[in-house]
Amino acid sequence: MTDPLARHTDYGNKSLDESDVAHDPIAQFSSWLAEAADRGVYEPNAMVLGTVDADGAPSSRTVLLRAIDADGFVFYTDRSSRKGRALAAHPVATLLFPWYTLHRQVSVTGEVSPVEDAESDAYWASRPQGSRVAGTASHQSQPIGSRAELEARVAEVEVEYPEGRDVPRPGRWGGYRLRPRRIEFWQGRTSRLHDRLVFTRAGDGTEWTVERLQP
Ligand SMILES: Cc1cc2nc3c(=O)[nH]c(=O)nc-3n(C[C@H](O)[C@H](O)[C@H](O)COP(=O)(O)O)c2cc1C
Repeated sequence: MTDPLARHTDYGNKSLDESDVAHDPIAQFSSWLAEAADRGVYEPNAMVLGTVDADGAPSSRTVLLRAIDADGFVFYTDRSSRKGRALAAHPVATLLFPWYTLHRQVSVTGEVSPVEDAESDAYWASRPQGSRVAGTASHQSQPIGSRAELEARVAEVEVEYPEGRDVPRPGRWGGYRLRPRRIEFWQGRTSRLHDRLVFTRAGDGTEWTVERLQP
């Protein structure tokens, strides 16, 4: 059996050239995301969100990207969770899209702010009933004595909001938008001579500069 720690995969011959990338890194990101979906990446919109808490301790977890536009990257969560508390203390974060099967990753850094209530309401309303019940019953990241206790809470919420009755969005649940300052596109190449192009916001923030980094 192959030792998974001793593998040396060759990352093939795709390249990422300054002349290939879009001037707007959001457009470039959207094009890679669409390609990841087309080429069968499992959960292509899954991203690892890294935060720093009030004591300076880093933490990371996966969340799903739910919207992307000129203003930034949007995800939804429980704002009273561990990540929510970290973002309240330090409203900055990193997002990492690890598209291993494409030999690509994108990493994004920027400031994070809560989305408008109307935006959270619209997304909440689009979620399946079961997810809305779970989001209401579960106080994310808080300890609970047992699975049975959690299921009992879900059952209570289901009695209050049977199928067909609107489950209101809990005040603690909502979206965040990360406004990117830096976006790095990484394309794996042969012999570890990978391509790395970094976009950084310049001037008044509407323009971007591009730089190549050594692999
Ligand atoms: C593929 C995947 C997608 C996830 N998507 C979300 C999400 O969109 N929002 C969310 O709050 N948690 C999501 N989670 C769960 C988080 O990784 C995490 O367990 C949870 O948000 C609590 O994190 P925290 O205690 O650091 O705040 C996802 C987990 C996985 C594996």
